[in-house]
Amino acid sequence: MGEAALDYVIDFISGLDEAPAVNVDRAMEVAHELRAVPPEEGGDLRSAIEGFAAAAANGFEPAGPGYLAFVPGGGVFASTLGDFMAKAVNRFPNLWETAPGMVQIEVNVIRWICDLFGYPAEARGILATGGSMANLSAIVTARRARLGEDFLDGTYYVSEQAHASVAKAAAIAGFSTRNLRTIAVDPDLRMRVYALRRQVREDRDAGFRPFLVVPNAGSTNTGAIDPLDAIADVAEEEGLWMHADAAYGGFFVLTERGRERLRGIDRADSITLDPHKGMFLPYGIGSLVVRDGAALRAAHYSGAAYLQDVSSEGELPNFSEYSIELSRDFRGLRVWLPLQLYGVSTFRDLLDEKLDLAAHLDGALAAEPALEVPWRPQLTVVPFRLRGADDDANRRFLGRINASKRVFCSSTMLDGRFTIRACILSHRTHGDRIDEAIEIIRKAAAEA
Ligand SMILES: Cc1ncc(COP(=O)(O)O)c(C=O)c1O
Repeated sequence: MGEAALDYVIDFISGLDEAPAVNVDRAMEVAHELRAVPPEEGGDLRSAIEGFAAAAANGFEPAGPGYLAFVPGGGVFASTLGDFMAKAVNRFPNLWETAPGMVQIEVNVIRWICDLFGYPAEARGILATGGSMANLSAIVTARRARLGEDFLDGTYYVSEQAHASVAKAAAIAGFSTRNLRTIAVDPDLRMRVYALRRQVREDRDAGFRPFLVVPNAGSTNTGAIDPLDAIADVAEEEGLWMHADAAYGGFFVLTERGRERLRGIDRADSITLDPHKGMFLPYGIGSLVVRDGAALRAAHYSGAAYLQDVSSEGELPNFSEYSIELSRDFRGLRVWLPLQLYGVSTFRDLLDEKLDLAAHLDGALAAEPALEVPWRPQLTVVPFRLRGADDDANRRFLGRINASKRVFCSSTMLDGRFTIRACILSHRTHGDRIDEAIEIIRKAAAEA
């Protein structure tokens, strides 16, 4: 069975260069063909793999080099192998005593992430399933640390460019959306710090308890990085918890340019960053690190009589006391194995390459008179649109680009206008595909 699955995976990965970046023409038909109740009697693996292969071939292709939509990651194969082994062994890493060596591997990964930001020894963290879950744990931690049990008068602050998961997490954490303060951005789409300070003071005067600011450390729309140092000053002066949403941008700290652009991030009380974005790993791995590890634990700890046989935390943590989950898979290997195989320098070099590619794409598109390229990439998102054209024309323009099936871009609204974005963040995307993307975009613009 393993060999049959591996045969499929090898074919799939070998075909990625030629595979369409998006293939939706028959996708719903294939979905309908798969609509069935489970068989009463067992069947054949090969035909099950064929069904899965058809499903995988119809839809978007986030694993391929032409995927520039949303936030790509690609999916490093070594990480898949790590998952394969971890799931076969099926250990339970959320209570340290059940698998101390495996817990140590996760601790190593989390410590490595903490070290990227100079976090102290008492910092702690978790491997979550993604940025949304990490942001939820962060907000619950900030709520508990700054507001205590009665928190309904707490107000929190994000920029107009914040990821929707932040407001969603706050709503799940029990806050009214009326307590959300959306702070205006400057022309570079970075939070206006004076507006933040003014809003915090107004809220305090009105009897609210401002408690949390969530700056972008690489926004989803454009990769904009809020003025982290200045926001940290406000957080310090006003007693706010600062949670940096670095789900997309965080791992750029490995590069010199990224470290420079993210200056001040190490002053955050907590940071979300997603290995399934900035480390190119397969979906299902995010992380949260918290400077004061005790605060993370205080927000998530709950004892239970049926767990009385397992030891309380000692040298190693019980991750269940730091996170929302109890039973979960062993995620550490997903990150640890690629790090062992390729070393940190490989990730640094790849991220540097993505920064170069984004600058190259930006320069090439900005030189096109038919295009408007309003924002220089602060990381690896290049937003662009047709000059002097309305939203419908730009929507058609995106359709033409994606019809090439060699690249797949997505869109957003910026300045109230339909804007196309190319996000370069797959380990499989290199200069050849970006040059091809430039030609495709030029041709589509000429046709428009
Ligand atoms: C800045 C930012 N924050 C949070 C998230 C949510 O992460 P996830 O999709 O892993 O839940 C994303 C996803 O793109 C993001 O870009």
